[in-house]
Amino acid sequence: MRFAMIGTAFMGTAHSHALHDAAAFFPDLPVRPVKRVLIGRREARAREMAERWGWEEWATDWREAVRRPDVDAVIVGTPNHLHHPMCLAALEAGKHVLCEKPLATTASLADDLAAAAARAGVCHGVAFNYRRVPAVVLARRLIEEGRLGTIRLYRGTYLQDWLLDPSLPVTWRLRVDEAGSGALGDILSHAIDLARYLVGEIAEVVSDLTTFVAERPAPDGGRASVTVDDRAAVLVRFIGGAVGSLEATRFATGRKCANGFEIFGERGSVRFDLERFNELEYYTQDDAPEARGYRRILVTEREHPYLRAWWPPGHTIGWEHTFVHQIHDFVAAAAGGRAFAPDFVEGAACQRVLDAAMRSHASGAWTAVPGPGGAARG
Ligand SMILES: NC(=O)c1ccc[n+]([C@@H]2O[C@H](COP(=O)([O-])OP(=O)(O)OC[C@H]3O[C@@H](n4cnc5c(N)ncnc54)[C@H](O)[C@@H]3O)[C@@H](O)[C@H]2O)c1
Repeated sequence: MRFAMIGTAFMGTAHSHALHDAAAFFPDLPVRPVKRVLIGRREARAREMAERWGWEEWATDWREAVRRPDVDAVIVGTPNHLHHPMCLAALEAGKHVLCEKPLATTASLADDLAAAAARAGVCHGVAFNYRRVPAVVLARRLIEEGRLGTIRLYRGTYLQDWLLDPSLPVTWRLRVDEAGSGALGDILSHAIDLARYLVGEIAEVVSDLTTFVAERPAPDGGRASVTVDDRAAVLVRFIGGAVGSLEATRFATGRKCANGFEIFGERGSVRFDLERFNELEYYTQDDAPEARGYRRILVTEREHPYLRAWWPPGHTIGWEHTFVHQIHDFVAAAAGGRAFAPDFVEGAACQRVLDAAMRSHASGAWTAVPGPGGAARG
């Protein structure tokens, strides 16, 4: 499966590595992912990156590259406002598309992409890579087996601190027209996706968004306004009856990539923190009262999700493996004519939660999360 990828920076690196390792570590794949063409804005950067990561070619014109007949699949790893035009062009050219999160900058653009993907009849996916952490997949397995009983409460947080310094300049992530929103779309979108993956669809939200540093240096000198939130807090009610809270910020002094959740059910609970990637904590009421307590499961056994491909038990894996697993699952789905999850339909569902959170912040009221196209859900 010959890949084109647009984007040569953070995500460009993560996906380049994943394409390499998926081909090498997963011999079960029915087809091998091939790094056909890497697309960047600047020629020198694209060439350097392509040579370093073993891309066969590099290019600077993404519109031309995504239409090439020797390309089967496209990865979009660019700023959020470019996802819509790039994905649309790739879908219209009949390519499988894996797009970085969030799928778009608004729910209507995300719905538009979901409709275009359905028309194209290709495999489509959104890179919510934390669904591919073995401990997270194990948490879902425990929930599906009924070990937690009925879920009552979900607490999700995604805490980083890289924006603390007020002298950091404004980049696309801090501009609403390019990012769509701030901590909300950037990292709370991951928390929403995990909540949807682990508990189910969200019915309504009430939110509070805060901007701590409203003005920063502009990249070309002078000052520029920050037009997105720095912290997003959202209370959620799930369709299935559970309730929850989600909070994300890039100002959590000392917390680097603390993407975590606690899920409380009537019979048990689980707890996960990305900063302790290989561990899942599990508590069950089934234990005798005197033996009750959280147990730390080291998720590195061959029986654990994805671990068969890696090292002997206890030889831990890390963040980049989520991208390898993601490419593995995407290639397997596309080659087998199956759907990948989360697909653009789910990416649009996440985006409608983001939009509802923004509307709720403006109105101060509980806000229903609509269905596709803004339709009310019964
Ligand atoms: N899944 C994750 O864990 C995760 C983590 C970080 C970022 N992301 C997402 O990945 C996307 C990219 O984020 P990033 O951190 O790599 O951003 P970045 O700013 O580091 O890189 C953006 C890349 O897009 C390229 N680009 C910008 N405009 C372009 C254009 N017009 N044509 C071609 N290329 C263009 C830039 O040259 C750069 O290579 C965003 O949507 C972001 O939300 C996901």
